[in-house]
Amino acid sequence: MRIMFIGDIVGSPGRDIWKTYAARIRSKFHQQVTIVNGENAAGGKGITKKIYHELLESGADMLTMGNHTWDKKEIFDFIDGAEKMVRPANFPPGTPGEGIRYLKINKQTVAILNLQGRTFMPAIDCPFQKADLLVSEAGKVTKNIFVDFHAEATSEKQAMAWYLDGRVSAVIGTHTHVPTADERILPQGTAYLSDVGMTGPYDGILGMEKDVVINRFLTNLPARFEVSKGREQLNGVYFDIDENTGKATLIKRVHISEDAPFFD
Ligand SMILES: [Fe+2]
Ligand SMILES: [Fe+2]
Repeated sequence: MRIMFIGDIVGSPGRDIWKTYAARIRSKFHQQVTIVNGENAAGGKGITKKIYHELLESGADMLTMGNHTWDKKEIFDFIDGAEKMVRPANFPPGTPGEGIRYLKINKQTVAILNLQGRTFMPAIDCPFQKADLLVSEAGKVTKNIFVDFHAEATSEKQAMAWYLDGRVSAVIGTHTHVPTADERILPQGTAYLSDVGMTGPYDGILGMEKDVVINRFLTNLPARFEVSKGREQLNGVYFDIDENTGKATLIKRVHISEDAPFFD
């Protein structure tokens, strides 16, 4: 089974390049499952119900989220009914939405788990303990388990990957918006990448208008960040899972931009 994971969609440029390439990516890479991180899909912060459906209609089978999950207030009106969305599972009990969901593809089931780190991020429940709990729960249903670990610190991401090695099919990092080049399969069969990068503006700073961000560093004064305009990029990663064992057999990054054009 092949799974494609697309990094944080940022605002309308992210949705635009995703829609441009979604069908072409599927016909080139032939993935059975497509997972998209949507935490920045609406104006760079959060997601709306309309955009949730838009991303699913354009080819996503499941959306993962992150620290920006709650930024658009309407999320509270639809997240409990959003069966194709997971938000970080280690928010305290009682938080709306689900942290793990299952997808049935042909005769296979894939568990999709979203966790959020705590290093240089808001203090929420322990992602490692939550992973223990949910991975053993998911293990009763399927061997194919995908983890989007939404975290800032590379050390915390590597720790999670080694902690879960052999227990899940893949641990892929999100949140920094910058792709890393450390994709590998750990010794017990877990595919790992520290960060998949973002999908959206190519000339901004983490997707935001660069002049505003530079000025913020120069002056330290508060500023309203806006999604950058102009050229676009898409970052993703795909990995293959042996469905009999749940172990990964291949992992490869995908980057599309003017510097790396897409060839069908
Ligand atoms: Fe993000
Ligand atoms: Fe984030």
